[in-house]
Amino acid sequence: MGTEKKREPPKKKKSIEKRLMVLVFSVIVFVLLLPTVVYHFKISLPHYLYQKKYWHPLNIYEVADTAYKAELVYGKNLIANTAKYLGPNGIVKQISNGMNCQNCHLAAGTVVFGMNYGSVASIYPKFRARSGTVEPIYKRVNDCFERSLNGKSLDTSSREMKAILAYIQYIGSNTPKGEQAFGSGLKALAFMDRAADPLSGKLLYMSTCQRCHQRNGQGLLNADRSEFVYPPLWGQNSFNDGAGMYRISNLAKFIKSNMPQGTTHNKPVLSNDESWDIAAFVLSQKRPHFDRVKADWPDIKQKPVDYPFAPYADSFSEQQHKFGPFKQMQ
Ligand code: HEC
Ligand code: HEC
Repeated sequence: MGTEKKREPPKKKKSIEKRLMVLVFSVIVFVLLLPTVVYHFKISLPHYLYQKKYWHPLNIYEVADTAYKAELVYGKNLIANTAKYLGPNGIVKQISNGMNCQNCHLAAGTVVFGMNYGSVASIYPKFRARSGTVEPIYKRVNDCFERSLNGKSLDTSSREMKAILAYIQYIGSNTPKGEQAFGSGLKALAFMDRAADPLSGKLLYMSTCQRCHQRNGQGLLNADRSEFVYPPLWGQNSFNDGAGMYRISNLAKFIKSNMPQGTTHNKPVLSNDESWDIAAFVLSQKRPHFDRVKADWPDIKQKPVDYPFAPYADSFSEQQHKFGPFKQMQ
């Protein structure tokens, strides 16, 4: 008994040293891999934990050339106050529904995971499966005019299109060609095990969204009715069913990171499930129809899982492609 007791202490010491070694080694591996993991899964951590920086737009007001700067400022104004220039009572043309580009591309396309323009200059022209063609930036801009703003396309040689392109290209010209800016587009959102539920979404809409977007979802115009203070979420002045926002994953991601107004991606107010359910409620309401949806995604195998119009390469229903559950469909 006595001799056994004497032998034990050195053994324990050795195993503690071993454990410490393993611990130190794991910490080193963890720290080395962290930036990759964070970047890959778009996880948001306090910035001092990793080096990857969110994209930050170039400042158009620092441009020296006065004529160029004026064009960039005009481009920014067209994105921030689209309705004033190109809405139903637009001072230049009347080709869109009264919404502003920045209702979705927040702060003129500069907000992290607020659908910013950090990866447009770097990635376009690019092949898009929706049209089955290689698209230049102006085609993408006109897509949003025709779908998100339920309007008409803008003449590519117009002063307005040139200014919009100049602005989008300038603010993103700090992203290296071919690269995706970190924090551009929308932040990933996990699928639920169940289908999104419009009924539970309706209750959440009433408690969290209605005070701004209104009970009837039609938004609220300013005093001189020139622009929305709160943009519509459905109805005749909203985006049509050919818009990117009509896909539930895009809408749910946008809501989770950006709504109610003031929400940021690193401090979301709603849970994942709540975001999916509210998106399902909003997309159950009436909105304008885009008459070319059937021509989209010419290669049906390329259709995203949440594209709500048949035909499909799989045997899941239109309803399941609209609201899920998506997990088993991938
Ligand atoms: C109702 C919301 C909404 C409005 C308003 C809107 N867009 Fe978009 N826009 C989107 C969505 C959603 C996408 C991404 C669609 C996708 O990739 O499926 C997008 C994508 C884009 C892109 C490509 C971005 C990228 O990173 O690839 C550009 C450029 C763009 N929009 C410009 C505009 C312009 C200019 C306007 C105003 C004329 C506008 N958008 C208005 C929702 C909107
Ligand atoms: C405090 C007011 C406020 C609340 C509450 C609010 N929003 Fe918004 N929402 C806005 C404003 C303002 C914009 C336009 C942003 C801009 O132009 O800068 C917007 C834009 C949007 C857009 C994109 C533009 C469009 O009209 O399609 C969607 C979608 C949206 N909100 C959904 C929601 C949902 C869903 C909720 C509830 C979870 C919500 N919002 C709560 C003020 C609000």
